[in-house]
Amino acid sequence: MFTRCLSERQLYFINMRRRRICKFMGSRKGLLFVLATLPVFYVSWQLSHAVGEALTPPPPPDQILHHLRANRSLIHFLDNINLLIEPSSVCQKKVPVLVLVTSTPSHHRHRDVIRNTWGKHQETYFFLGLTQDDDRLPDAYIEAKQHSDLIVHELQDHYQNLTLKVALMLQWALRRCPRAEFVFKTDDDVLINPRTLETVLEDNKDAALFGYKKENSVPHRDEYTKWYLPRWLYNEDLIPEYLSGTGYIINGKNLKEIFTAALHVPLINMEDVYFTYVVARRALGLPLTHDRRLSPYKPWIFTCPYKNYASIHSLSPEEMEIIWPKIQSLGESTFCSYFTSELLLY
Ligand SMILES: *[C@@H]1O[C@H](CO)[C@@H](O)[C@H](O)[C@H]1NC(C)=O
Ligand SMILES: *[C@@H]1O[C@H](CO)[C@@H](O)[C@H](O)[C@H]1NC(C)=O
Repeated sequence: MFTRCLSERQLYFINMRRRRICKFMGSRKGLLFVLATLPVFYVSWQLSHAVGEALTPPPPPDQILHHLRANRSLIHFLDNINLLIEPSSVCQKKVPVLVLVTSTPSHHRHRDVIRNTWGKHQETYFFLGLTQDDDRLPDAYIEAKQHSDLIVHELQDHYQNLTLKVALMLQWALRRCPRAEFVFKTDDDVLINPRTLETVLEDNKDAALFGYKKENSVPHRDEYTKWYLPRWLYNEDLIPEYLSGTGYIINGKNLKEIFTAALHVPLINMEDVYFTYVVARRALGLPLTHDRRLSPYKPWIFTCPYKNYASIHSLSPEEMEIIWPKIQSLGESTFCSYFTSELLLY
């Protein structure tokens, strides 16, 4: 097609040029040309690499998890972290499930949306870390006074400190709400479906710990990922099993035993691997029960299957506001009650 549109003359010139290029590349001069341009490619590749590194400066190795390098004893940290804010009265009535949400100072909107949606349906508390000199502390006092659901510890609110935050949550639950039947650890980008949660709790009432079980995971050894788990903290090549940190539930009967054991088990930075595998499974020999309704994923189609999830992960506050009324109407819809799409759960 293409060649037919071109005149004989034009084709002649194209072929001439192609022939010349081929001849040039094949010649000694051509070889020299290729060799000469190689350093240019190499330098520009190095430059782009350097620019990329400049944008994400690598933390100096001795600063990654430096606090755990210094001491891996949970007692050591708990003894040195102050409780700055907590509600004056908690767990006044019977608590079937105590929901503890890891949040962060800037996530006001996440907390507000949870308060107005699923948080209303069960005893829910938010945990933040703030240091004394942080100018967001006054705001936290105001928010705490307004809602009576904020617990603030004197802690640098950093992903590397999540294990400490969760340890503080469990400690707080034992002190303030020791009779809770279940303790549900989750995050502020998770939507809980109270109706399904009730069934999930009923179905697992004899389990010590349950959630979405991940098996034979390979630890991230790349220090640039959020999930970096260095060998000096966890030396094995596989994590045989653990419950995803987006939402796992501890039976109230086992809470004290797990927390107490953790005081004697060296810390690692991945909180879910630490509490569910290293402490509960490995040190105490407790079984981990898999329940795929506590999903760490976000389903990509909105239909009746949503009804079968007790938790949905990775939602923005806006998405949560949109999905919440739909979840409620699904629960009431007779159409969905005939539609048992267990198969669509993943
Ligand atoms: C870590 O902290 C514990 C408890 O405070 C202490 O007994 C222990 O000596 C500390 N270890 C190191 C290596 O400093
Ligand atoms: C973690 O918290 C400890 C104790 O508050 C603090 O010393 C350390 O700097 C924190 N680490 C990070 C990475 O925030």
